Amino acid sequence: MAIPQQTIDHILDRVDLVELIGQRVKLKKTGRTYSGCCPFHQEKSPSFHVYQDKQYYHCFGCQANGNAIRFLMDMDSRNFIDVMKDLSSQTGIELPKDNTDQKKLSYKKTNTPPPSTPLNTSQAKDSFSFQPEHDPFAMLSEPENEFSFQNALPQEEINEEGNLYDLLEHVTQFYQQQLKHNTGAQHYFKQRGLSENTVQDWRLGYAPEDWQHLEKAFPADIEGLKKVGLIRTSDHGRDFNLLRERVIFPIRDPKGRVVGFGGRALNNEIKPKYINSPDSDIFHKNQLLYGLYEGMKNKAKNWLMVEGYMDVIALSQAGIHGGVATLGTASNTEHLNMLFKRNPRLTIAFDGDQAGQKAARRTLEIALPLLEDGRELKFFILPNEHDPDSLIQREGLEHFKNLWQSAPLLSDFLFALLTQGENISHPEGKSHVMGELKNLTNMLPPKGSYRYLLTQSFREKLGLGRRFTPQNNNDASLSFNIHTKDKDFAIALLISQPFLYKEFEQLRAYVPQGDFLRYILDTLDNVFDHLPENQEAAVYYLLGATAVVHTEITTILKTTNIFNLIESPEKALNLAKEYSLSLQEDYLKQKMKKPASLAESQHLRLKLNALTKQISLKLIQ
Ligand code: UTP
Ligand code: MN
Repeated sequence: MAIPQQTIDHILDRVDLVELIGQRVKLKKTGRTYSGCCPFHQEKSPSFHVYQDKQYYHCFGCQANGNAIRFLMDMDSRNFIDVMKDLSSQTGIELPKDNTDQKKLSYKKTNTPPPSTPLNTSQAKDSFSFQPEHDPFAMLSEPENEFSFQNALPQEEINEEGNLYDLLEHVTQFYQQQLKHNTGAQHYFKQRGLSENTVQDWRLGYAPEDWQHLEKAFPADIEGLKKVGLIRTSDHGRDFNLLRERVIFPIRDPKGRVVGFGGRALNNEIKPKYINSPDSDIFHKNQLLYGLYEGMKNKAKNWLMVEGYMDVIALSQAGIHGGVATLGTASNTEHLNMLFKRNPRLTIAFDGDQAGQKAARRTLEIALPLLEDGRELKFFILPNEHDPDSLIQREGLEHFKNLWQSAPLLSDFLFALLTQGENISHPEGKSHVMGELKNLTNMLPPKGSYRYLLTQSFREKLGLGRRFTPQNNNDASLSFNIHTKDKDFAIALLISQPFLYKEFEQLRAYVPQGDFLRYILDTLDNVFDHLPENQEAAVYYLLGATAVVHTEITTILKTTNIFNLIESPEKALNLAKEYSLSLQEDYLKQKMKKPASLAESQHLRLKLNALTKQISLKLIQ
């Protein structure tokens, strides 16, 4: 059984490698990667790394590496097909049975000419007003035409199978060609500020007004054109082309193959403004994003989800390549996961109007369950009456970039959203906001620290139960850099936000016994599972457990001025990750000065390399 690459990719997209490997290997999260002891060779300390964003594993000890399929094949000495069958049942994505998938992608070609189109009496009653009999494609046979579509398809293929991908490629070229012959459509793109290069890069085109132009250009491919929804049949049995007199936006899948089209009316009076080709065997709107392929091709790093095709194109013309849009549908989990996988930091743009706010709220509810630790979501609310396209055109790129940069973090966005229209100076308002927040935090993944941190930040913002008084008039960043040691900051972070212990778990093994930090980490390790859910109660629980060192802790909390440094949960989490990594590095370096043996020295060096790599990854994040 040959499994098409498309199916393999689809299955790999659905598998979470961390979860899959996590079932066999005890993995710990360290920064952006997960690590554990390599299952392919004997080792005592972890040099096996799993990169969630790349869905790839690598062992720095024995160089084993690969994706989910490789992992299962090597772990269990199984063959490819066997593993694929297993993954198929896990992900619910079916493998082709007797080439049915291949069949789906093909259609029967015919060499009979398309039905001629004289209007008989029953058709005359059709609700369509057909264009007068003229052939807008006469130009196709004109000598100056450099491309004739009928001749482009090899003759011997007639009466054979056609492939839907090939067909849409030809249709794309046809629409592109039509644009060259239609000054109205060319003018439309020009007036929208698109350069010729942009039109070419995005393969924009034009679908002429004739109701049956596709039949005329592709007489052998009617079955295929029907399969992809470009030829529709009216209730009266009459075939017509879906996209007419519209500028065309070809939609490409992540491999760059055209799989569908969006067509926009040439003026705003015509409704609907956009028509998209329907879902088909090769076009699944729920699993595609406009601009994703183009963004990847241009090595986009930061993804920005916008609403429309024109926004994506305007962004790319301005040099911002990470713009993506859904295909006229609401965004779903799969869309967001596709982007989170590529970069854990994502921004979603919304219109400033009521509809935009509603959409933001809906998207929020889809996004929250996906926000594992380390993922960061920003909401970019556009000024009223603007979309990214109009904003860039009218206010310029710099202005747009500034607004994007200053888009609020999720915690601030949520606070603004939930306190809107609430009187938060009253206890009723406060408790209402906290109740709403609880509804939302309940949607966050249960494992991460984010939900605790978010709740705590709301409590602080609402002035609820803040027991530690932050020190004022103290330049936090200054004292942070010069006066206090990293260890103290780690301790201060842990005391003020005990749930951050998860970020420090890995560090514990590196800190020698007798060290004050080790004492705090050991205590937390003991009490972590018993910590009350409420952040404030958790702090008091921990203070109780560390009562014998109360004086030391108070001093550290004061000198670090920690409460001024962690005004947002995102900041607290980031600081924790940074401290945990850099302390691991420090302790490792210390240990390397006095290695017990050559083997240990070598081993420590490997670890240090891996750690340094992680830290540099974090720095470029
Ligand atoms: P908008 O109506 O916000 O338009 O649709 P826009 O993107 O600003 O379009 P321009 O700038 O006037 O050309 C946003 C997206 O919603 C889908 C399309 O995918 C569009 O890009 N849409 C819109 C439809 O599918 N059908 C419609 O009738 C309108
Ligand atoms: Mn627009």
